[in-house]
Amino acid sequence: MPITYVPETRTFFLDTENTSLVFGLYDHDYIHSQYWGRRIHHADLSRLLRVCASGFSPNYPGAPDREHSLDLLPTEYPVYGGGDYRSPALQVEFPDGSRLLDLKYKSHAILDGKPALPGLPHLDGADCTLELTLCDEYSGLEAVVCYSLFEKQDVIARSARILNKTGAPLTVTRALSASVDLPRADLEMIGLYGTHIRERQLDRTPLRHGIQSVESRRGASSHQHNPFAALAAKDTTEQAGEVYAATLIYSGNFVISAEVDCFNSTRFQLGINPFDFSWRLEPDEAFVTPEAVLTYTDRGLNRMSQNFHNVFKHHLGHTEIRNKPRPIVINNWEATYFDFDEEKLFGIIDCCKGLGIDTFVLDDGWFGQRNNDCCSLGDWVVNTGKLPRGLDSIIERCEQNGLSFGLWFEPEMVSEDSDLYRAHPDWAIHKEGRPFCTGRSQLVLDLANPAVLEYLKKALSAILGSHRISYVKWDMNRHITDAYSAALPACRQPEIYHRYMLNLYALLDFLNREFPHVTIEGCSGGGGRFDAGMLYYMPQTWTSDDSDAIERLKIQYGTSLVYPPQCMTAHISASPNHQMNRVTPYVTRARVAMSASFGYELNPLHLTDEERAEIRNQTALYKRIAPLVVEGDFYRLISPFEADGCAWMFVSPDRRRAFAIYVQKLSKPAWPQDRLRLQGLDPDARYRIEELDGVFYGDELMYAGLALPRLFDFESVSYTLERLD
Ligand code: GLA
Repeated sequence: MPITYVPETRTFFLDTENTSLVFGLYDHDYIHSQYWGRRIHHADLSRLLRVCASGFSPNYPGAPDREHSLDLLPTEYPVYGGGDYRSPALQVEFPDGSRLLDLKYKSHAILDGKPALPGLPHLDGADCTLELTLCDEYSGLEAVVCYSLFEKQDVIARSARILNKTGAPLTVTRALSASVDLPRADLEMIGLYGTHIRERQLDRTPLRHGIQSVESRRGASSHQHNPFAALAAKDTTEQAGEVYAATLIYSGNFVISAEVDCFNSTRFQLGINPFDFSWRLEPDEAFVTPEAVLTYTDRGLNRMSQNFHNVFKHHLGHTEIRNKPRPIVINNWEATYFDFDEEKLFGIIDCCKGLGIDTFVLDDGWFGQRNNDCCSLGDWVVNTGKLPRGLDSIIERCEQNGLSFGLWFEPEMVSEDSDLYRAHPDWAIHKEGRPFCTGRSQLVLDLANPAVLEYLKKALSAILGSHRISYVKWDMNRHITDAYSAALPACRQPEIYHRYMLNLYALLDFLNREFPHVTIEGCSGGGGRFDAGMLYYMPQTWTSDDSDAIERLKIQYGTSLVYPPQCMTAHISASPNHQMNRVTPYVTRARVAMSASFGYELNPLHLTDEERAEIRNQTALYKRIAPLVVEGDFYRLISPFEADGCAWMFVSPDRRRAFAIYVQKLSKPAWPQDRLRLQGLDPDARYRIEELDGVFYGDELMYAGLALPRLFDFESVSYTLERLD
């Protein structure tokens, strides 16, 4: 059993294939973290805890001596009020104004598998779960701290359930999903920051004393900071070294922090951002935190990513579509923007015939009076000015040309100039009478209001239920401001962000169940909501509104730190590129886009015959390599953040097939003898490389490498490998 309780030493051992997490019961039944790292024997590690008096570290009630202080104790779910001055995981406020808590062990249960997290996206199919019940004796409040093990992936999922057993209402003001105390500070914090059209750039800085964090206060996980952080040893590279990493299965306001205290220990925490958050809990109610996903490895950042990828590929979400190759999509956004009508769309659709494209996705502009981005969001009825015969004629035209049909929505939004806003101004997030912000001339619908949830269920079902739609692009093009809900009483206003998220998840869950054949692609101004919460309901997300292949190298490389490549949508767009004005060879654009869920974002009417032939080759190649992108292990080989080029590769789980690309950014004047060393192959096997028409040993390719050819600006090479024996 991967979870063991040793009663003699009162110690819990949580073992995955390569890691162990150890904690024990300490004086007065506090939970004492002992170890998280490479797998070890079940030794008594309580010896590692040094108690020593420290000035200004107070002693808890009943402490045996002046050396016992919660300020010094590494613990699993710290609280506020008992002398631990570091950041707590839990804070509450009782009706008498007291905010004091003292959580001690009450009981534990070891369960097979893993209970679902009601109303929240979560991992399924864990090997086993430890539920540790902690209790504040004075008030009766309980916290059930849950650890679910995914042995093979070296992943532990953590969440907490706060139970109000106090007999009176209380307010939760901070409830994090996980807190980990590490007995070291010699680490670097790695995060993914960005902006619209430049998402998930790598950031790596040494920890310093004090708190450092990444967070969102925007109502969405955001372009600005992804809900992920890793603490890596200074010498950790892609291929070697220690990493403690965490991400959150949540799409709203989050915080991930590392607090280095004066004794050089580090508290690593994550969960819902306590900023502008509180939750009123009636007697006997529970508050359940989102799930945190933690992994440790001593085999470098690439292994960390593979652990996340494997657990997300196999245990996240209930859509049937997740592990199948996705359709090759053509989307009309960059081809037409808002400027289209039936005839123009027919031209585009007809032109796709025979190119190997599977699905045509009609983007923004098909509904209400939507001819620009200033109106009609919320009015999900066809724009008859553009499409007089409705969606049906477009769908029929697609089918005549062998394509299925997909449609863009931005369900969470409302334009001031819309019938919906005119009828229900109180359904938008803002405070009536008070001037409010707009973003892209639009407001956010108040999903904290159940009436809005019901409206969206009906409006979306009406379209999805009456048309042959196999694909939905679900956009979200601004963040929340003016956070006030007309549907919530004063004391519950700080619940708005989390209630919004819970009802958004309820809506997506409803649609997944009602329309299981529909693939939903997430989007938020590109990759502004690229998180595991959304991926639970939507197997892929439009990675960035920057479709330039060279910019995408960094964006896709950064995204791959946490998320499997097939979760990223990447399209070949026109050259010069619309965002960067950069001219990039077709084949490079194809190689970068094929390293993800592939498609096109251009006007096929502008293609030459040669380009059409090239597209036929690309779609045929993608159909061959798509299983590798979906099932394969992903290896980052050369970082675009550090080098003049970028390389990565996919290797099938049985190591029989592989696909690698190298892309040159700017070329170099004096061409050095650059080599590309592959990874993940069987060292003793022989592989044929199609592009080189040669046969090589796995060890030769991994240790000696391939000599890269001379490449000029934005040129690239690919290598398709097949094992011979
Ligand atoms: C966002 C998306 C784009 C496109 C537009 C439509 O910016 O990221 O791909 O759908 O909205 O308005």
